[in-house]
Amino acid sequence: MMIAVIGLGFVGLTTALGLATQTGRLVYAYDSNANLRAKLKSGEVPFHEPGLKDKLHELLGSGLIICDTLAEALEHTSIIFYCVGTPSRPDGAADLDALTGAIRQSLPLLRKDSYCTLVIKSTVPPMTTTDVLAPLLKNSGHMVGESVGLAHNPEFLREGRAWQDFIHPDRIVIGACDAYSMRQLEQLYEPFGAPVLAVSPGTAEFTKMASNALLATMISFSNELAALAEGSPEIDISQAFRLLHADGRWQGGGMASYVYPGCGFGGYCLPKDTLSLYRYSQKIGRESTLLGGVLAVNVRTKRAFAERVVAAAGPKSKVAVLGLAFKPGSDDVRETPAADIITHLLELGVTDIVAYDPLAISRFRDVYGFPIRYAHSLEEALEGRDLAALVTAWPEFTARQLLFERVQVIDGRYCLGKREFVLPTQLRRS
Ligand SMILES: NC(=O)c1ccc[n+]([C@@H]2O[C@H](COP(=O)([O-])OP(=O)(O)OC[C@H]3O[C@@H](n4cnc5c(N)ncnc54)[C@H](O)[C@@H]3O)[C@@H](O)[C@H]2O)c1
Repeated sequence: MMIAVIGLGFVGLTTALGLATQTGRLVYAYDSNANLRAKLKSGEVPFHEPGLKDKLHELLGSGLIICDTLAEALEHTSIIFYCVGTPSRPDGAADLDALTGAIRQSLPLLRKDSYCTLVIKSTVPPMTTTDVLAPLLKNSGHMVGESVGLAHNPEFLREGRAWQDFIHPDRIVIGACDAYSMRQLEQLYEPFGAPVLAVSPGTAEFTKMASNALLATMISFSNELAALAEGSPEIDISQAFRLLHADGRWQGGGMASYVYPGCGFGGYCLPKDTLSLYRYSQKIGRESTLLGGVLAVNVRTKRAFAERVVAAAGPKSKVAVLGLAFKPGSDDVRETPAADIITHLLELGVTDIVAYDPLAISRFRDVYGFPIRYAHSLEEALEGRDLAALVTAWPEFTARQLLFERVQVIDGRYCLGKREFVLPTQLRRS
């Protein structure tokens, strides 16, 4: 059983390399972006993701073939993973055009001599497989369960840890429409040694959306509460949230990092998937007040942070924005809070902005084109600045706190100078 992977971004490249490694099968990989294909063929991974480059070098041309055409990728394969993007449409609903387009292009190229299974890894709104994809196959003369298989297999990897998360998953969720696809996928995933959970396609789709919406909710909850505490200097927000984490039920697995305030959530998945689920709730006539609130808090948090910066230093001040990636350990700037915060600062009249990020400067500059300057180091970013706005909690910022002594800092991530839990002197036992 040879494998094809279509779409070679964060998820697709990780999936292709991970399946080749764990199953020992040959993986044919294709992306419609010729520039990306050329980079991958030359061994270059165009985004920061630990471990992927070494794996690409190891497998290129042996376990992994980067194909120049979709036909080449599908020629020998009987199981096809779709990992193309599902961005937001202008109305906030998920745009499925890349996915349905990739499937439409594939259908005439499927092997005639074998049953082919189409596996969707892209994140889609609930009921997409049943209401959109199965009818698409049927209308093209492919009956699911007769000539083709169809399954939703959501991906739960985190950017910055994509390889480790893919190779060591907590669970593998498969929403297959037909028994043959289920068996094929169970067999394929056996070497991963993780529980394989068979559910309906709608349950698989809903689980992935629910996972991202839950993470977004925890972040907005934290930001909402931090905003309540902000006006009372006696409340140490960083300590309060670390005390929440001290509840044993939060320990292990990294969930606590989502229950901590910051200056808004970003990245490719949480904003678009929470919005997509919210639009879905409206579409089915059960508008989710909670998800609407989660999104509204996120918008308000970024705006409020920019207002705090201006209130502290004034619009004519020289500001350093520290951190452009949506989270530390990544150079992904899609929906990064830094972009909205800089937009607000510019709107509020702050025009002298220098930005710095250990990894994401060139990507950020290319995508957003703001009229601001960029610094090559933290020292350069702070030079002559009235105020530093800390937007991404890079370890470099916490490790080099002495550099902040001569500048006013608004710590949007509550990560600097964490105070220990020391009782006030008068309350200590003698
Ligand atoms: N990034 C994450 O952390 C993450 C985690 C889990 C799930 N997901 C989901 O996985 C999907 C992919 O996410 P990503 O971050 O890898 O996106 P991405 O934008 O990095 O990659 C998508 C790739 O698909 C390619 N593509 C688009 N149309 C194509 C076509 N017709 N044929 C071949 N290639 C095509 C694009 O050129 C692009 O390289 C999305 O639905 C996303 O929501 C993402």
